[in-house]
Amino acid sequence: MAILIQSQISPSVLSADFSQLGDQIGSIDNAGGEVLHLDIMDGHFVPNLTFGPMVVKAIRKMTSMHLEAHLMISDPDKYIEGYIQAGADCVLVHPSTCSSVSDTLNRIHDLGAKAGLVVNPDEKLSSVSPFIHQMDQLLIMSVYPGFGGQSFIPEVLDSLPKILSQLEEAQVLIEIDGGINLQTIQTLRSAGIDRYVAGSAVFNNQGTPKQNYLNLLRQIIKD
Ligand code: DX5
Ligand code: ZN
Repeated sequence: MAILIQSQISPSVLSADFSQLGDQIGSIDNAGGEVLHLDIMDGHFVPNLTFGPMVVKAIRKMTSMHLEAHLMISDPDKYIEGYIQAGADCVLVHPSTCSSVSDTLNRIHDLGAKAGLVVNPDEKLSSVSPFIHQMDQLLIMSVYPGFGGQSFIPEVLDSLPKILSQLEEAQVLIEIDGGINLQTIQTLRSAGIDRYVAGSAVFNNQGTPKQNYLNLLRQIIKD
């Protein structure tokens, strides 16, 4: 396990009811949540459009939780500063969107935020190896980015053991994103994951965000 004493759930507000976003985020705060995942999509790098820095700024006012901005946008270098100024504590970028991955990571750090790289299901985890010492976080996509509610792709973790010790030595936080629910999270308990993003498993009609969040958390902390 890198950095964290205990694995965490990072609820993605992508699946939240935005007509009552304050209450939904408050419910996670109330459950003791520490981190929120913000999916930023531009309708270009991915075929879906979400929200920009104005909404991040509003969320920043609602909570003191750590905010991680997952940028699924073309030309992230143009917008990174805006997201950090809006209150993002961590910025996660897809390497294929950066003209220089190294420069982008440096820039995020210079602006005072944590920095991470995202690997899609059809990309190799080892592609981040050259940047491991510049990264705070690795986000492994277990679905193709763009939409919530998709099915988990287990094969994305096949090659994690090969770079796990390298990531752990460099204290890179390992996070997984997509298709995490009460069933899939149980199968991942020994995979070396520090943080699990969960959108539709937290924000849904089956329970309150707090109940759903705590149910997921129980799956990873029980003996
Ligand atoms: C997908 C996003 C995910 C998404 C996960 O592009 O990066 O963060 O919100 O949603 P679920 O948990 O429903 O798969
Ligand atoms: Zn995401």
